[in-house]
Amino acid sequence: MQQTVRIAPSILAADFSRMGEEVRAVTEAGADYIHIDVMDGHFVPNITLGPDMVAAIRPYSELVFDVHLMIAPADLFIEDFAKAGADIITVHPEAGPHLHRTIQMIKGFGKKAGISLNPATPIDVIDLIIDDIDLILCMGVNPGFGGQQFIPSTLSKLEALRRKIDASGRRIDLEVDGGINMDTASRAASAGADVLVAGTATFKGGPQAYSANIRRLRGEA
Ligand code: DX5
Ligand code: ZN
Repeated sequence: MQQTVRIAPSILAADFSRMGEEVRAVTEAGADYIHIDVMDGHFVPNITLGPDMVAAIRPYSELVFDVHLMIAPADLFIEDFAKAGADIITVHPEAGPHLHRTIQMIKGFGKKAGISLNPATPIDVIDLIIDDIDLILCMGVNPGFGGQQFIPSTLSKLEALRRKIDASGRRIDLEVDGGINMDTASRAASAGADVLVAGTATFKGGPQAYSANIRRLRGEA
């Protein structure tokens, strides 16, 4: 069942020199999750941050820390992110040969587990593991950078994922990530997404704009 729409600001678009304050500001502005993009310069062509940054910003918010690992292999670092304060840890199936093992490892640390699907990754990769996961992240762009344009075929993919989640009867977040702005947010939500990641669209205009940005993304303004 589609849950209420929640907004997950991606801190990739925040001011890195003031990350703690930025996390606090979006928390006070009404965000639901803090989306943390981890990139290794190998699985994706960009490098961002590691577990030390997650631990450093943890005291600034009590919201769910939604850690999106764009690293390969992921298994070596799951314990570090779990201990740093992640609540949800999401991996890409292409990041390692044993997706089931990776998911069990995340759950073994008491964390929620997610699977992220690149634009060209078929959705049936989730079929045999749907009973073990808490979140499906559907990329709206190719992973690696913020500020890219939403790929339109994401919408039909979200609809198909929504049907799979509903058929499972399980409570699984359907998160869309990349290219979400005031226009694509409502289309993605209509297609079945219930967690909208938004970097550029949340942080645009600086701290005084965050609350209005989040309300508009949620469809409330
Ligand atoms: C892309 C990241 C996204 C990205 C979203 O690889 O996974 O979370 O930061 O940025 P925007 O919202 O600017 O498209
Ligand atoms: Zn992300």
